[in-house]
Amino acid sequence: MRILGIETSCDETAAAVVEDGTRVVSNVIASQIPLHHKTGGVVPEVAAREHVLKIVPVVDEALEQAGLKMEDIDAVAVTQGPGLLSSLIIGVSAASTLAIANNKPLIPVNHIAGHIYANWLDSSPEDPIEFPILVMTVSGGHNELVLMKSHTNYELLGETLDDAAGEAFDKVARLLGLGYPGGPHVARVAEVGNPKRFDFPRAYMGKSSFDFSFSGLKTAVLNAVKEEHDKNGELSKSYIADCAASFQETVCDVLTDKLLRAANQYKVKEVHLAGGVSANKRLREMAAEKIGQKYFHDHNGKKVKLSTKPKLRYANNISYCTDNAAMIASAAFFHFKKAPDSYIKNLNALADPSLSLY
Ligand code: KG4
Ligand code: ZN
Repeated sequence: MRILGIETSCDETAAAVVEDGTRVVSNVIASQIPLHHKTGGVVPEVAAREHVLKIVPVVDEALEQAGLKMEDIDAVAVTQGPGLLSSLIIGVSAASTLAIANNKPLIPVNHIAGHIYANWLDSSPEDPIEFPILVMTVSGGHNELVLMKSHTNYELLGETLDDAAGEAFDKVARLLGLGYPGGPHVARVAEVGNPKRFDFPRAYMGKSSFDFSFSGLKTAVLNAVKEEHDKNGELSKSYIADCAASFQETVCDVLTDKLLRAANQYKVKEVHLAGGVSANKRLREMAAEKIGQKYFHDHNGKKVKLSTKPKLRYANNISYCTDNAAMIASAAFFHFKKAPDSYIKNLNALADPSLSLY
C-alpha cells in the first residue's frame, strides 16, 4: 500500500511517499530554518505563509521523486495535530483537497504517533519490532514516556510539566550565542566540553514519577551565564563548551534514568527513542549504556537487578528524527491496517492543535 504523507505542524513543509509503512520511496522537506533564524524561534504567521507557498511544490516533488502520479497512490495521510493551528490548516486543507479530487481515503495522523513511527522507516522484516514498547518522544514541543502495547494502544506514563527537552536545548543555545534550532549546535560544541564542570540541578519530580521538568535547569544555566558575563564579559569558547556539555549531560541523565526505570517496571521488549532530540548522540550513547547494564538504582537509591533486557532502537536515518512526512505516512499505514473501514469513506478532516494521542 502506497501512502502520500503530508506534514505542516510547525516549521517544515514536508511530503513523502512510503510503501507498507516502512519503505521510503520519496521524502521531501522544505525547511524554514533560515527564515526563523533571525527571530530565534518560530513566528506562527510567518510559518503559515511559508507553508502556503511551499505545499504544492513539495507535494509535486515527492510524487516526482517517487516516479508516481496521484492515481498510483492508495491513500493520503496528514498531520491533524498537535501543532500550530495556522500551520496545520495548510497541510490538512491540501491533503483533504487531494483526497476529494482523487477519491482516495484520507488518514488523519497524530504528530506524536508520527514521531513514534519514524523508527519503523527502513526497518527490516528480518528484525521485526516487537510489542510492548516503551517510547520516549523528545522534541521541541513534546517530552513524553509512552507505553505502546499494540499499533493503536498508547498509554501515557509521564510527560513534561513545563518545557520539553528540545525547547531547553533551544533556549540554552540562545543563551550561549549559538544558532537555531539549538539542539545540534549545543551537541556540536559539547563534544569538546567538560560535562562535569557545572553541577546543574536534576529534577526528578519524585523519583517514582515518570514526569519531567526542565525549567529549573534552564534557569540554572541562565544564572550561570549571567554571572559569567558579569565577571568576565564575553563568554569564552571553553566556557561555552563546558556549559553546553554539562547541560546536555544533565538532560540526558534525567531522561535515561526515567527510561530505564519505566522499562524495568513495565517489562517491555523494546525501548525506542523518538523526536528531534533523539538525534542526540550522547542521549543514544547513555540510553545504550544504561539499558546494557545488569543493575540500576531504584527511586530509593537501592541497587536492583534489571528484570528485562529490552532492545534499544532509534531512527535508521537521522533525518527521520526531526519533523518529516515519511513518519506520518508510516503511522497512517499501521493505523489504517487495524481499521480500514473507518478511513475508507473519509475524505475530510479538521486541524486540531491540541489533538491527544491517549
Ligand atoms: O521533532 P522536532 O523536529 O519538532 C517538534 O515536533 O518539536 O524537534 C525539534 C527539536 C528542536 O528543539 C531541536 O533543537 C531538537 O529537536 N534537536 C536536537 C538535536 N537535533 C534536533 N536536540 C539535541 N540534540 C540534537 N542533535
Ligand atoms: Zn515534531
